Amino acid sequence: MSSEPTLLSAAHFSYVAERTAGDDDFLRDLKAAAVEAGLPAIWISPAQASLMNVLLRLAKAAQVIDVGTLAGYSAISMARALPEGGHLVTIELNPKHADFAEEWIARSDVADRITVARGPANEVLPQLADESFDAMFLDADKGGYESYREHGLRLLRKGALFMADNAFAFGELFADQPKDREVVAIREFNDHMARSPGMTGVIVPAGDGMWVAVKD
Ligand SMILES: C[S@@+](CC[C@H](N)C(=O)[O-])C[C@H]1O[C@@H](n2cnc3c(N)ncnc32)[C@H](O)[C@@H]1O
Repeated sequence: MSSEPTLLSAAHFSYVAERTAGDDDFLRDLKAAAVEAGLPAIWISPAQASLMNVLLRLAKAAQVIDVGTLAGYSAISMARALPEGGHLVTIELNPKHADFAEEWIARSDVADRITVARGPANEVLPQLADESFDAMFLDADKGGYESYREHGLRLLRKGALFMADNAFAFGELFADQPKDREVVAIREFNDHMARSPGMTGVIVPAGDGMWVAVKD
């Protein structure tokens, strides 16, 4: 065994994807309809959805918060990992995205497990009850992540699962002059996660890099 890490390439990600349960017909149709409706195709990868499914089931998560709904892909994927009686609140600012997601969630196999909460996450999260959630996933505006994490420390029970997408900053983590204006916010959030008390976590090289942490 070597202590040197394996350097990952695009081929590794393809290799993983080829060995990961992909989307079923419903999720494929959802994505096609979302693109047709003009929504941006910026949902998590199927490999990330599988990782989250495994983690949620290991954590026996029943109550989940999803920040950033878009078309409802991550919400439906996560809701499928919940036990009978489980529930997921997914928060979306953009009314067009929320309308699309509500329509497709209503047609999904987990319609009774998901509520779309409309509005900015910073207005919705304060309305949720303390220590009443088993898991939280961040995938919205990156400048809001630090604040959403703070809300998470209040909303999550001890030992709960915390996940956040895009730790690799859309491939621009090490760029001198990043094109995406959210790159700086992601770098700051990564440093904040690494240094701040309250959670123990690690960046997993899945998709665009995903923080996986446990609330201490
Ligand atoms: C990357 S997409 C989410 C993708 C989704 N998690 C998935 O994988 O299926 C980000 C979403 O967050 C929403 N969003 C951005 N800022 C927000 C905010 N402050 N509060 C709530 N939603 C926000 C955007 O409108 C967009 O639909």
